[in-house]
Amino acid sequence: MSTDPQVSGDGEAEARRLDAADPGHRELFHVPPATGGRYAETAYLAGNSLGLQPRATRADLLADLDAWATLGVEGHLEGTRPWLPYHEYLTGAAARLVGALPEETVVMNSLTVDLHLLMVSFYRPGGARHRIVIEDSAFPSDGYAVRSQARFHGLDPDEAVVRLRPRDGEDTLRTEDVLAYLEREGDRVALVLLGGVNYLTGELMDIPAITRAGRAAGAVVGWDLAHAAGNVPLALHDWDVDFAAWCSYKYLNAGPGALAGVFVHRRHVGDPSLQRFEGWWSTDAATRFAMAPVSRPPASADAWQVSNPPILAMGPVRTSLEIFDRAGMTALRARSMRLTGYLERLLGDVTATRPLTVITPRDPERRGAQLSLRVGLDAGELAKRLRHEYGVIADAREPDVLRAAPVPLYSTYHDCWRLADALAGLVEETR
Ligand SMILES: Cc1ncc(COP(=O)(O)O)c(C=O)c1O
Repeated sequence: MSTDPQVSGDGEAEARRLDAADPGHRELFHVPPATGGRYAETAYLAGNSLGLQPRATRADLLADLDAWATLGVEGHLEGTRPWLPYHEYLTGAAARLVGALPEETVVMNSLTVDLHLLMVSFYRPGGARHRIVIEDSAFPSDGYAVRSQARFHGLDPDEAVVRLRPRDGEDTLRTEDVLAYLEREGDRVALVLLGGVNYLTGELMDIPAITRAGRAAGAVVGWDLAHAAGNVPLALHDWDVDFAAWCSYKYLNAGPGALAGVFVHRRHVGDPSLQRFEGWWSTDAATRFAMAPVSRPPASADAWQVSNPPILAMGPVRTSLEIFDRAGMTALRARSMRLTGYLERLLGDVTATRPLTVITPRDPERRGAQLSLRVGLDAGELAKRLRHEYGVIADAREPDVLRAAPVPLYSTYHDCWRLADALAGLVEETR
């Protein structure tokens, strides 16, 4: 298979020109070396799955390790970043990232664990109002989590969990259909739990409109923001979202399995009527070491913490959030729209004559960085060939979806051009 350029004549030169005019922050990241193709670096378009490692992460992590080596247990209270309040170092930046108040935000645990802890408080089925609404293409973990929550409350998950499907022949959910469901069936819905950006299609949901409709129907509205945090601007407080959680290993670049973030709206923090699973980190920090028999939870999202946090896992989240603070979500979103729009244009040339379809919404306001392609063949095989023959990393979702996300912090126009060029080389023309 030839790896000579396949897409339009001066396309590569144009990509280089655009990169010179509109650079991101690639110098802050390690870009993996290519394992195939003509270029030294990978064209990395899988930041929606696992973000790249910031160069600063290693030194920051080593500093935390050094504190342990040199201070031992005294590191809880001494050193440049004492461990006892470590999670607080992350709160401000995490809150800014998702449009929350600091008291509404905490970084803790992993995403699905956090969704469960939040559902302890926010899924309180009663009588007819017991349904949980998710999208049919929800990430499977969310589906399993809500089904197990229904069972935990003695309910039949097949009856209690409602999966909203796109219309026949369509790939993405229409907001109007979600709103119509909530209008029609809302008095039976206890919880709406949707993905802010769908992991498969890349669709950005209308979070404020759906939150408004769900709450107006008397339901609690929570969001899984795994694919939204660090990808699109969020205003969780102003949108009146009840709760949300997101992981930090995708657009947030904090490393495989990195800790998750949690949002609980101010109207709920400090509400003594809410159920919560507690441990010693749920109690007020000022009296934590009074070793009292009964907890005194603070009026903040910190109350949802259970255990003392893993300091060595918190460091990379702190490093990453600082990058977002410096780069600014507004500027990142603007570059993201330019990059993704450019990739969409290039893919348009490729898909015009090949059996590939972009299933992500065409409206830039209804998507983040990711474009998903239905490839009509084994997507896993295609992803392997992209990597080994062209040095392009995109990721596949079985059976036939290829996902590519130009990440505004580090992806380039040239990366986008390489993907389009490689697809043109790998997928045969049909006419
Ligand atoms: C949308 C979404 N929700 C939940 C998860 C599960 O995350 P975790 O394994 O961190 O709980 C993922 C993982 O990729 C995801 O993409």
